[in-house]
Amino acid sequence: MFKETKDYLVSQGITEPEIGLILGSGLGELADEIEDAIKIPYEDIPNFPVSTVVGHAGQLVYGTLSGRKVIALQGRFHYYEGYDLQTVTYPVRVFKELGVSILVVTNAAGGVNTSFAPGDLMIITDQINLTGENPLIGANIEEHGVRFVDMTETYSKRGQQLLKDIAKDSGLHLQQGVYAWFTGPTYETPAEIKFARTIGADAVGMSTVPEAIVGKHCGMEIIGISCITNLAAGMQASLDHDEVVDVTTIVKPRFKTLIKELVKRA
Ligand code: 6GU
Repeated sequence: MFKETKDYLVSQGITEPEIGLILGSGLGELADEIEDAIKIPYEDIPNFPVSTVVGHAGQLVYGTLSGRKVIALQGRFHYYEGYDLQTVTYPVRVFKELGVSILVVTNAAGGVNTSFAPGDLMIITDQINLTGENPLIGANIEEHGVRFVDMTETYSKRGQQLLKDIAKDSGLHLQQGVYAWFTGPTYETPAEIKFARTIGADAVGMSTVPEAIVGKHCGMEIIGISCITNLAAGMQASLDHDEVVDVTTIVKPRFKTLIKELVKRA
């Protein structure tokens, strides 16, 4: 399956991506900064899923960013849309086939740590899978990796340090913490957020964890960044998706600066 997808993408000129970028809700604009871009709508790509969420453009963008060859998913696939996890993570397998060795995963997330504020960017240091689901359930894809995957260092220490160095050099403030995955599409209840905080989560969201698991399975180096768009349930009056989108608009310039510098140094 992904070999056919790969062959098509190579035939379209996507020949040597080094870094894969998965751009979260409201953060897809970064892909517009990729130079000499080859842009391919998902519906044109054999075996590729098609995205349904408003605010997700739904195309693959390949080209040069900060002097590096990158491939970006402008619009990701979420479990809550009804895709199974093999589908959600399909693009990661395709990235692997194309030769990507570094996977940068980004998302919009709710803040659980009481010292966070909307608009913060957070280095993902680790993750918690609260769903009971796993994209690796089923026959193991031996060509990509082992059956039982070590998740000791899911988000590379090197990547985390790069982000800290960038923050220091550019005077950008970065939080750091653990991202917990809930399936959505409901936001969590206040009781669930209290639970998440108790077990060590700093942020919650509806994505990223499956892609990171598959990236890790494939032997990729993973670097993760959350944009804290709001505080989670029980920490602010109420939650709505428009607020998530509004905050990403404000954070976008800082986010772009951070990712471009990360790609340069990675
Ligand atoms: Cl509060 N929860 C989840 N699951 N995802 C989010 C969020 C909250 N805020 C932005 N994305």
